[in-house]
Amino acid sequence: MSLDVRSFFPALDQKVHDKPLVYLDSAASTLKARPVIDAMQSFDSRWASNVHRGAHYLSDQATGYYEKSREQVRSFLNAKETGEIIFTRNTTESLNLVATSLSFGQLQPGDEIVLTEMEHHSNIVPWQLAAERTGAVIKVIPMTDDGQLDLANVDQIVSSKTKVLSMVYVSNALGTINPVEKLIAKAKAVGAITILDAAQAVAVMPVDVQALGCDFLAFSGHKIFGPFGIGVLYGRKALLDQMAPYQGGGSMIDRVSFEKTTYLSAPHRFEAGTPNVTGAIGLGEACQFVDEIGRDKIFESEKALLSHMSDQLGRISGLRLYGTSDQKTNVQSFLLEGVHPSDVGQILDREGVAVRTGHHCCQPMMAKFKVPGTIRASLSIYSDESDVDRLVKAVLKSKEFFE
Ligand code: ALA
Repeated sequence: MSLDVRSFFPALDQKVHDKPLVYLDSAASTLKARPVIDAMQSFDSRWASNVHRGAHYLSDQATGYYEKSREQVRSFLNAKETGEIIFTRNTTESLNLVATSLSFGQLQPGDEIVLTEMEHHSNIVPWQLAAERTGAVIKVIPMTDDGQLDLANVDQIVSSKTKVLSMVYVSNALGTINPVEKLIAKAKAVGAITILDAAQAVAVMPVDVQALGCDFLAFSGHKIFGPFGIGVLYGRKALLDQMAPYQGGGSMIDRVSFEKTTYLSAPHRFEAGTPNVTGAIGLGEACQFVDEIGRDKIFESEKALLSHMSDQLGRISGLRLYGTSDQKTNVQSFLLEGVHPSDVGQILDREGVAVRTGHHCCQPMMAKFKVPGTIRASLSIYSDESDVDRLVKAVLKSKEFFE
């Protein structure tokens, strides 16, 4: 069931509160893979000078490595060209970039922006800001009690007024895999722009932007064994070149005068200022690392382990699972009856088991479930059955403690 990759992750080799670490918080951030750490260290030790600027050897080398990473990401997503890959800080910045840029002239009063009840705050708040600026209106596709999208009324929600459909591919709080192809097709049929939050998807399953047919897709390095502070926005080149810049500064301009400034085309138009070059190098390496293991293999392995984990947790009396769709991957949320999730989280931590508790930046989803938050155990390529056994034991210990 496991992928035998634990040796690539130095962080696993430590004790927490005197117990060997069980890391089940990969939906928040994955651990960093050794090849990623090495690639970044090697770059910083030798080539770390500025990109696209210097008239010297080190800058040429740094630019070469930076652009090689863009090509690695292009290949990872199967984008048509590197001009479609913009480096950002993270998924949140990628989504803010699209929402802000579309609100400079493209979104009009009365236009509708369709989101889902399953979104992370980073795919809600940027659109609320865009709606406030433009007079556009937000519509929401609801969720069923088992944590799937409820598509019963989708044809009323996605209509000729829809200008944007922005939705999560894999839910960070539940692990549900959404039927994004079907929804993208509906949105395209009414001429809407389609955006996928793929932050949770990229490390757990194949993601091919041409097969998906989306216009934009966002993800973060820290959720795919890569560094913090680097993310990606994929955008269809024709759309990117029509979009207003998000931030102004160096490296994104063609000519500047006080009378008029003109801009470079994508991706540079959207990369103002000195970028996170080391982060991009790490991210390129992370994409390659994942592809060397194989995303189909990762998906199958995590699916089997998730089924084992959900089954074991589900046998505990007084424990309720949240998110029980059969279209799921690597995440199980749950609650112990009558116990606040953060109290359980503290006991699990004392047992060396790292999970996340709380609303997982999905307050509308928690409101739907009528809970303050959940306990979320999330798997990754380095998780195995012994991690699940330790989790289950620690949950039973918490249950005894609070009984
Ligand atoms: N979005 C991250 C999570 O789901 C931080 O925990």
